[in-house]
Amino acid sequence: MIELAPSILSADFARLAEQVRDATEGGGTVIHVDVMDGHFVPNITIGPLVVKSLRKATNAPLDCHLMIENPDQFIPEFAEAGADWISVHQEACRHLDRTLHLIRSHQALAGVVLNPATPVETLSEVLDIVDYVLVMSVNPGFGAQKFIPGSLRKIRRLAELRAQRGLSYRIEVDGGIGLDTVAEVVRAGAEILVAGNAVFGKGDPKSNAQTLLKTAVEATLQKV
Ligand code: DX5
Ligand code: ZN
Repeated sequence: MIELAPSILSADFARLAEQVRDATEGGGTVIHVDVMDGHFVPNITIGPLVVKSLRKATNAPLDCHLMIENPDQFIPEFAEAGADWISVHQEACRHLDRTLHLIRSHQALAGVVLNPATPVETLSEVLDIVDYVLVMSVNPGFGAQKFIPGSLRKIRRLAELRAQRGLSYRIEVDGGIGLDTVAEVVRAGAEILVAGNAVFGKGDPKSNAQTLLKTAVEATLQKV
């Protein structure tokens, strides 16, 4: 099932509740929350306090993408604030297996994220304990960057490994997703589509979300 996960990174932070409502009215079913610490990535965004407020503003699952060093230190707080899904970067975790179990112990879905330069193979020992894998199709840190085509191969590989090993993780893609790229990521096997700039960048978030989701769903029909 295809789901659109609007990323609030490109939203107007002073009108967050309203923007989230518009995006969900347009068909967004998961709210993607980009958490950046200024260390793992060269930008700073938001923390658990904003997640706590968002929790009151929407019933949609909150997908917290942690682009931070030492995620173990903050996972409990994000979970308590209302994060339903929590993902950590493979590159930021020295003890990835432990971190993924920590997320699960807080009743959140556990995801692992791959930077563009990190191969899918680095996840072979944890694929059976993740609920989703997030393939970065830009280098994390900023919205509105250009889609990196090499991510398509990684999405295909993850779909192939899932079938081969009889696993059930979902495949999410993040970065540079718009009307020009959404069909190819869906055809490659991506199921959860993060989009910031394409939803909130300009125009009306509701109709932007609608158009993007419609294009994505049409691409699944073309998939053989
Ligand atoms: C980038 C973030 C993304 C970002 C995507 O570091 O992880 O979630 O919001 O933005 P767009 O859709 O604008 O490329
Ligand atoms: Zn993200």
